[in-house]
Order: sequence, then structure tokens, then C-alpha cells
Amino acid sequence: MTTLESTRSRLAAAGQDHLLAFHDRLAPPQQDALLAQINALDLEAVPALVRAYVTAKPTPAIPRDVQPAAYYPFNPDAPARPYNAAQYRAAGDALLRAGKVGAFVVAGGQGSRLGYEGPKGCYPAGAVSRKPLFQIFAEQLLAARTKFGRVVPWYIMTSPLNHDATTDFFRAHDFFGLGRENLMFFPQGVMPSFDLASGRILLAEPGVVATNPDGHGGAVRALHSSGALDDMQRRGVEHLSYIQVDNPLVRITDPVFLGLHAAAPDSSAEMSSKMIPKAYPGEKLGVFCRVDGKTEVIEYSDLPAALAEERLPDGTLRFVCGSIAIHVLAVEFIRRLATDPRFALPYHRAEKKVPCIDPATGARVEPAAPNGVKLERFIFDALAMCRSSVVYETDRVEEFAPIKNASGLDSPESSARIQTARAARWLGSRGVRVPRNPAGDPDCTLEISPLTALEPADLGPDALPRVIERGASLAV
Ligand code: UTP
Repeated sequence: MTTLESTRSRLAAAGQDHLLAFHDRLAPPQQDALLAQINALDLEAVPALVRAYVTAKPTPAIPRDVQPAAYYPFNPDAPARPYNAAQYRAAGDALLRAGKVGAFVVAGGQGSRLGYEGPKGCYPAGAVSRKPLFQIFAEQLLAARTKFGRVVPWYIMTSPLNHDATTDFFRAHDFFGLGRENLMFFPQGVMPSFDLASGRILLAEPGVVATNPDGHGGAVRALHSSGALDDMQRRGVEHLSYIQVDNPLVRITDPVFLGLHAAAPDSSAEMSSKMIPKAYPGEKLGVFCRVDGKTEVIEYSDLPAALAEERLPDGTLRFVCGSIAIHVLAVEFIRRLATDPRFALPYHRAEKKVPCIDPATGARVEPAAPNGVKLERFIFDALAMCRSSVVYETDRVEEFAPIKNASGLDSPESSARIQTARAARWLGSRGVRVPRNPAGDPDCTLEISPLTALEPADLGPDALPRVIERGASLAV
């Protein structure tokens, strides 16, 4: 059987034969590309996926017994759960000094809300310096190398849509001084996008199947199939610090967090998470919960309002642990997720506007309302596969300044404000006077380079400005 015939029969079995509707009208190279694209899809799995997620709309089953997850408070002396932070810092330090920690950024998203041309990691995020996000992370890893005396290799997951633009960007910046050999780039997989009404796979062009990156949970398969896990094994990397690309304040090498992950009595050292206390019940953060003895994230849209609004006698939210997508994962745990089908992550469905071609007429469709379904996997679903897992509180100003939207909440502007607030706090703790407005907010814009300090204790006297004028923009 020729490739065309065998593809036709696989498509027919999957109910997707319309994908070849324009095949005969394409030039030979486009025909080959279309066949290659179709044959790379897991067509045999498509009918079940369509039934489960596209033509049916799965309703999230919220288990009846949902409890809030326990967590290690940011303040180790908090009476609710005191712990020996120095001991965990030492354990995390030891992992870093032994070269057992790698960094991993998921940078395959489409960043559609920000509306920035190009990979989001190239976005100029520094409050004063306008440094790109990738550079801010790179400087953290350079500083960690100096501080802990070992390279922290960096694994960067792109998507087929932004892979070349990402690697070109790093090359143009000479890999930010990290050394090409200490970086590994690999694209995540894609899923076909489906027609909402019929469950048929959409065509983006007569010769191109519409696809979308398979979610940050696609990292599991991509880390394995790219050889990144093998690379970690060769280097002796045992734990991976997982970050998203959009948060310039994330601490990639946080010794206390690494130490809790590796050594806390209630941690299996498989996967651990950071949280911030939710500010209000409707805040759009997934919530760490305890379900059937496991820590899980319940998406904000799936947590019943009655639970989201519940408060403890002291007024704090009962379901307070907001997920900010900062994790540590053990390399061996990722390997298990990737290779044992019992640990496959589930899919999540999102309805989207997907420009496409009508397979009957060839007419281009620019939908005004969602016409498509995209299926994605989420990394936090791996928590349910852990034997046990710990959650560590961090402080919003210290570590959460995401850039998601072009304006308003979680925008470049709000991020710059939080970066300034953190820098003001750090400088203030070293005796620097920061001008403030009547509301108490810094009356200036500040940024501390990771090369200057990874935490306040790193701020040497030379780094401290003598005066900060009102309205100043100052990077140290
Ligand atoms: P978001 O949920 O913010 O999605 O991703 P996004 O695609 O970047 O942005 P919007 O929704 O289109 O505006 C959170 C993190 O997960 C990564 C993103 O790059 C970001 O670091 N991600 C998301 C992937 O790596 N792959 C994906 O398929 C989706």
C-alpha cells in the first residue's frame, strides 16, 4: 500500500477522511508535507478523544470530600506549622552544590492574551532595564553558578510555532553567557484542533492540519522524547526546577523550596509546589486541595463557589493555597510519567476561535465565535500521581509578577509595580530609604538584577544606592 492509501484508510477508520479533501490539488511537496503531518498524529486515539472531550463536554467531577491542602508557611516560625528552615536551606544548598538541580522553563505557549509578536520569553519585562524574560532567567542561572559553584543546566521547551524564533533569539544574544552546552531547546508536541460541532479535525490550510501545542503537561512527553531526561541523567541532575515563562520574579534556585521537596518528612520528593495565599475568593488561581489523601490542584473555575468563599474563624480563606505554577519535579518521576501508561495525564478541553478551511467548499472561515476545541494537558495533574507532595507558601511580592495580559491585571505594568515593590523591600531591609507616595507605594521604579542579588542577603554595600530620588528609575 502506498503512503497515500494507508493514510486514507487510517483516516477513514478514524472518521477523519476530509483531511485529504484537497490533497489532489496540492503541489507534490505540499502533498508530502500534509501526509507527514497526518501520519505524525495518533489517529487511532482520535475517535475516543472526540467522544470524550469534543462532542461531549466533560463536567469536572468534584469529589465530595475536598479538604484544603496543608502547606509550609512562608514564615517558618508561624505557630500553625513551625519548621526548621535552616535545615531545609542547607539541604537545598547541598543539592545545588552537588549539581543535582536543573532548570526547566515551559515556553511553548502562544501568549495570545499579551498579543506580543514573538516568543513570550523575548518580551522586555525588566521594570527599568526592559531586559527580556529569558535574560532575567539566564542571569539567575549565572548568579547561581557563582553562588553554588556548579552549572545549573537549562532545558527550554518551545513549540513548533516558536522554536526557531526562540533559538535564534538565544543565538543572537550568545546564549546570555551561559554556554551553548548548558542549554537544551526542544519543541513540545501538538494536538489537532477539532471542530466543535462535528468533532472533525480542522484544516488550517488546504494542505495543513490545524494544530495547537499540547499544553504545559506536554512537557512530560517532550522531556522524554527529546532526550532531555537522558541528558539530565548523564549530568547527575536529579531534580528539575519548573517555571513558566511569564514571571520575572520567579526564584529558579530557591534552596529552602528545594530542601523541602527533597527532605521534608511528608514529601516523596517526586513533585512539590509553591503557592501564594489567594487574595479573594474569585481570584483566578487554581487551588491546592487534598483529595483522597493526595494533593491536587482544582482549577478556579471548577472549585464550587461555596468552598471558594469559605473562611476560617480568623477570616482567612479556608481554600487559600493559590497555585502559581512553580514546581520541583524529580527526574525519575518525570520518566515514570512519560513511560508508564498508567500515569498518562488527562486532557482538558478549551473552546477557541480557530481560523480554518471549510472542507466541503475550500472557503476560508474566520470565526466570530468559538468554533474549535483544543485539547491540552496540564502539568499540575501530575500531582495526583505522586505518592505524597508538599506545598510551600511564598510571598506575592517576592515571587509573583506574571505578564499575561496587555493591560490591567497581570500585565507589564502590574509586573513592573511588583518588581519595584520587591526591590524596594530588599533595599529597605538594607537601610536604603525608598521614596514613597501617600499610599505607601514606592514613588519610583526599581529593579534588582539577579546578577546583583538572588535574595536580600546577597546585596553587598556596593550595590546599595545612596539616594533614590522621587520619580527615579533605577536598576541595580
Ligand atoms: P498560559 O496558560 O499563560 O498560556 O501558559 P499561553 O499560551 O502562554 O498564553 P495565552 O493563554 O495564549 O495568553 C502558562 C505557561 O505554560 C506555557 C506557556 O509558555 C507559559 O509559560 N505553555 C502553555 C506551554 O509551554 N505550552 C503550552 O501548550 C501551553
